[in-house]
Amino acid sequence: MSRICYVNGDYVAEEDAKISVFDRGFLFADGVYEVTSVLGGKLIDFDGHATRLSRSLSELAMPSPVTRDELLDIHRELVTRNGIEEGLVYLQITRGAADRDFAYPTDAAPGIVLFTQTKTLIESPAARAGIRIVSLPDARWGRRDIKTVQLLYPSMAKMEAKAQGADDAWMVEDGHVTEGTSNNAYIVKGSTIVTRQLGTEILAGITRNAVLRFAREAQMKVEERAFTVEEAESADEAFVTSATTFVQPVVSINGSEIGDGTPGPVARRLREIYIEESRKAGI
Ligand code: PDD
Repeated sequence: MSRICYVNGDYVAEEDAKISVFDRGFLFADGVYEVTSVLGGKLIDFDGHATRLSRSLSELAMPSPVTRDELLDIHRELVTRNGIEEGLVYLQITRGAADRDFAYPTDAAPGIVLFTQTKTLIESPAARAGIRIVSLPDARWGRRDIKTVQLLYPSMAKMEAKAQGADDAWMVEDGHVTEGTSNNAYIVKGSTIVTRQLGTEILAGITRNAVLRFAREAQMKVEERAFTVEEAESADEAFVTSATTFVQPVVSINGSEIGDGTPGPVARRLREIYIEESRKAGI
């Protein structure tokens, strides 16, 4: 059975889910997105994603075609119609279809599409074994705080990581790690968790926000500052966070084993807490 998608006001079978070739998301990557995870049929941190979406839209002077409540209804409806127990809802808003022109059109109606994907989030083999990271230059644009659909460089970096026998890349600018291709990056030194401070250089991860809150509540020490690749290679632990990976341990960086080369206790504990708390708070 094909999935039901949401396209500009209608619930349609995926074969019929189509948008215009003039859509500026297609022509200019003039669009923003969110990925919200689903656990036990419930949306995890919907409010965080809705708030970041509003901010991304406002940074691009793009109107929203829906209210927050409508957005929640659409998410829930898609989860129900597609019977998603564990997986994700993908949402994309673009400036809409218009004649090709670099200036924003004044008369385009913003477009909105959503679809679901079933995905194993809890019992993921990568979470159990940990992932291998290589560092690569960060060649993305300068407004990484806006969650745009302009994802070609992260795709290239992921492919380069795989070509080097790793699972993913951490991107590096001026000698310091910014973030992973599609996740936030952390190291643990002694008992301190270190992750880059927010700014235009990284995306303000919704999972990052929750995980740092849980870490502080559990009396763990957190430092929000930039760290170097060398610091990461010699860290006691490392991990990444995102809506689709939760907390995922990193076991090697540029071929250097992290700790004893297996998932570390801080990452494992934070993953447990994150899953437990998210299950309770899902809507
Ligand atoms: N990616 N940094 C980048 C560059 C990201 O693309 C993502 C998320 C994150 C983590 O953000 P959050 O915790 O809100 O998921 C950080 C999503 C999952 C994706 O593109 O599929």
